[in-house]
Amino acid sequence: MKILITGGLGYIGSHVATVLIQNDIDTVLIDTLENSRIQVLEGIESITGKAPVFRKIDVGEEIEMNQLFEEFPDIGGVIHFAAYKSVGESVSQPLRYYNNNLGSLQQLLKYLIPNSIPLIFSSSCTVYGQSETLPIREDEQLKSATSPYGNTKKIGEQIILDCCKANPNFNAILLRYFNPIGAHSSAKIGEYPNGVPQNLVPFLTQTVKGLRPILKVFGYSYDTPDGTCIRDYIHVMDLAQAHVESLDYLLNNKNQETCEVYNVGTGKGVSVLELIKSFESATGKKVPFEISDPRPGDTIVAYADPSKIKLNIGWMANYSLEEALLSAWKWEEKINQ
Ligand code: UD1
Repeated sequence: MKILITGGLGYIGSHVATVLIQNDIDTVLIDTLENSRIQVLEGIESITGKAPVFRKIDVGEEIEMNQLFEEFPDIGGVIHFAAYKSVGESVSQPLRYYNNNLGSLQQLLKYLIPNSIPLIFSSSCTVYGQSETLPIREDEQLKSATSPYGNTKKIGEQIILDCCKANPNFNAILLRYFNPIGAHSSAKIGEYPNGVPQNLVPFLTQTVKGLRPILKVFGYSYDTPDGTCIRDYIHVMDLAQAHVESLDYLLNNKNQETCEVYNVGTGKGVSVLELIKSFESATGKKVPFEISDPRPGDTIVAYADPSKIKLNIGWMANYSLEEALLSAWKWEEKINQ
């Protein structure tokens, strides 16, 4: 049996691919290469010692997808990452985001449902917005999305939930990631931000490398212990492991409900200033930063209650924040050299 990974050459998809392959699970990776690079394939091969099957295909293209499923009739599970993910871009190009992220999901479901192929869907803690209670549990009331990107995750979850209700033989897990950071310890794969990074860690590592003049800390007078925003930063390798264990759980019919939702986080809230300090102590490098205005629309505090995934699936985060930040730095030092 093979596992299809859509967006398999992207940041999270490529790390999941290495862990699956190292667990002797056959994979088929597809990607449009719109926001990823073909060199990632060499990175995966160099880490695992196996050349993964790769096809340059858009999940939204019905004919190409039908051909793929004909070529690999033994695909027995799908992990779906392929989606656009820039919050700012989604605000200026909403239709492009709705078309791509929801069109491709529906296209995939048209094949998965009649064939009872289980799905793991890449969702985000963005669906919670500013949660009323902390740490955030999966049954927290969801807020209206603050961007079209966030809305595609929310609507995507709802589409899958409705399909599972209507088709009891179709099973899915929705994984709500908190803030993935870091890279594979080999520094052979990692995150390639497009243009100026919008996320904290790639901006920080590029600043330390000298590619950006200074890191701006967005907001300093929030109602938090040091005044800066708090997030739950999770090592991408821990996140990858969560996919492998969720897949195993689904394929072995251990799920109680046809559609289950899980937070994937460490459970620890870390402020922006704490993250900067941890980076400095993990790497011995100084981070040039200045306090700046708040970023409009930012959530102030978000960290997971990860107890449900631990209880049902048995997964919990293993890496420390320092290990994650050190791996992000090693990757930054290596790219484009
Ligand atoms: C962002 C997205 C979210 C997405 C998630 C995936 C926004 C508004 N939200 O979340 O939808 O699911 O990434 O990883 O973009 N910060 C700075 N300076 C910077 C960059 C960030 O101080 O240059 C701060 C932010 O204010 C925030 C923290 O660092 O407090 C983390 O920011 P970021 O990495 O952008 O992640 P999120 O905002 O959590």
